[in-house]
Amino acid sequence: MFEITKRDGMARIGKFTTTSGRTIETPALLPVINPKIKTVTPRELYDEFGFGAMITNSYIIKNTPALKEEAQSKGLHEMLDYPGIIMTDSGTFQSHMYGEVELTNKEIVEFQRSIGTDIGTVLDIFTEPFWTKEQTAESIVETLKRTEEAVSLKGEMMINGVIQGSVFPDLREDCARKLAEMDIDVHPIGGVVPLMEQYRYSELVDVIVSSKMGLNPNRPVHLFGAGHPMILAFATLMGCDLFDSASYAKFAKDDRMMFIDGTFRLQDMQSLDCNCPACRGMTLETLKKTEKNERIRIIARHNLYQIKQELSLVKRYLREGRLWELAEVRCRAHPAMLDGLRKLREYQDFMERFDPISRESAIFYTGIETRGRPVFKRYDDRIMTRYIPPTKKAALFYGGQNKPYSRFFVSDFVNARRQGYTPVVISPFGPVPAELDEMYPIAQSMFPSIEDTDTENESDELSLAFLEKHFTEGVVNGSDLEPEYNGEPTDEEIKDNDTKRVWAVARYQFGIEAAEALLKGELTFRKSRKTGKIRNVFSDGEHVLSMRAGDGFFTLRMEGAKRIVENIPAPRMRVQVADDAVPFISQGRNAFCQFVTAVDEELVPMDEAIIVDKDDRPVGTGKMLLVKNEIFSMKKGIAVKTRTGSD
Ligand code: GUN
Ligand code: ZN
Repeated sequence: MFEITKRDGMARIGKFTTTSGRTIETPALLPVINPKIKTVTPRELYDEFGFGAMITNSYIIKNTPALKEEAQSKGLHEMLDYPGIIMTDSGTFQSHMYGEVELTNKEIVEFQRSIGTDIGTVLDIFTEPFWTKEQTAESIVETLKRTEEAVSLKGEMMINGVIQGSVFPDLREDCARKLAEMDIDVHPIGGVVPLMEQYRYSELVDVIVSSKMGLNPNRPVHLFGAGHPMILAFATLMGCDLFDSASYAKFAKDDRMMFIDGTFRLQDMQSLDCNCPACRGMTLETLKKTEKNERIRIIARHNLYQIKQELSLVKRYLREGRLWELAEVRCRAHPAMLDGLRKLREYQDFMERFDPISRESAIFYTGIETRGRPVFKRYDDRIMTRYIPPTKKAALFYGGQNKPYSRFFVSDFVNARRQGYTPVVISPFGPVPAELDEMYPIAQSMFPSIEDTDTENESDELSLAFLEKHFTEGVVNGSDLEPEYNGEPTDEEIKDNDTKRVWAVARYQFGIEAAEALLKGELTFRKSRKTGKIRNVFSDGEHVLSMRAGDGFFTLRMEGAKRIVENIPAPRMRVQVADDAVPFISQGRNAFCQFVTAVDEELVPMDEAIIVDKDDRPVGTGKMLLVKNEIFSMKKGIAVKTRTGSD
């Protein structure tokens, strides 16, 4: 069972529950325990570090008679003294490292089941990055066959269905799509360890995103062999939920310490400067002089603390809607990771379908890669297709980047309008018409005051296309306007301004036709006494929309919802629910996934949605939490957070 409780783009916070009833919050990292060594004990992992899941190797257990017998008589949890979720791997990685393993898929799957693992793994075939496409495709056929066999044998055990496909995105997507059809519980992305070891991050991005494209969102995705703290934010951003780390222990054996910006050899380090519970109070000299086994333990524990700390930070950023920022910063730890981030931009279209219309925090520019975020793509598309200028003449203003917008320009804007121009600010977003300057992502976003040439070129290009399309009667510089500003805007001008803003935001947010349905007739506004900003919009005296102060977007009132349903054909803006949910939703209860029967696939998280019954009658309005294919594949969770019911 996997339930998404919070999301940021493709990243999600989830609650994963095993058949055995154990639960973990994702994203989560599973430390690898070598059952023969146990540098850190499973009990310590659970009690002291709080790792609620771990992974161990069933192949090693099976091949070690004493362990095999103990595991089969006591069960894995008792043998390891670990109450959390135990995942076992199958021996695939050993075959990657040392060649063929003496083992059949059936044997190892049945063995895993016999020792009571929570999640077992198929004996998949590790697709090496140097393989030909033909070789890779052939081995996937075998992996899929074995996965089918594993599913038929799994019983109460959950099963890992590993996506393979080397560096071929089409094979990855196809493999993922076929696995998505099977009764599998977790999807590891396999065969990626060599890519990470060789710093081939742009190919890793292809592999992850193409795998995600083939999967359904209802199962956790595990990035097999990824456990360095450096990669956690970036991989989570791409929609990976589970990670595992053997390196915390392997590195410790070689006196290598993991830090957020890389791994460093003890002998090369100039100082320790680490305040984690393992290192606290210790100097580099004392650590170097510590007896070998004790030192391994300290370093292994240090490495685990680094992972744990970064994972907490990833979750915090995810909850705050700022994961892009953290990932962009982390990708600067190594130029090869920056390559990966740049590569991700190629998937802007795919990512845009999951990207919320608004976030709790504004955009914080970290470098030219920021412009690759899907939010920019959406803005670009919508101002080109959903914007209608009030006049066909534009007056351009060039924003200082720290505060590029509104307040600064009120007098200039009024002056421009008095002379028949539409004020447009040229900014790092590209063009920002004055009517849209209080809306996410425009308002409050932070850019450096000295722009990057690349960003500037790109926003200039977009501005040019925008001006050419919308301003057929000419463009002037705001500073070239006649300086005839005289006095504050009149009441009439303010009303006219508000009207233009309401129309522009409604078109941007809902589309041109929906805005026309919502705003027909005479518009009046109720404004905040404190800020002077629009709060409620009345059309012919009916309250149709309210404007959120936080992001400048509208929330939909029942009256507004009715107008859209009457004028715009389904499924636009609709989430249709089954009859048994209607009495609850109409009283204001949330719409849960299992009751949803149809969804507009253009709705993105945080969008306003109209909840309708099977005859297309509105029963409520609310905020989307998930997108269409998530709603249909999830068994649990809220699809739409209801704001008002029709009753
Ligand atoms: N561990 C790291 N990579 C892999 C993989 O591709 N398959 C399996 N089963 N385990 C792994
Ligand atoms: Zn430390």
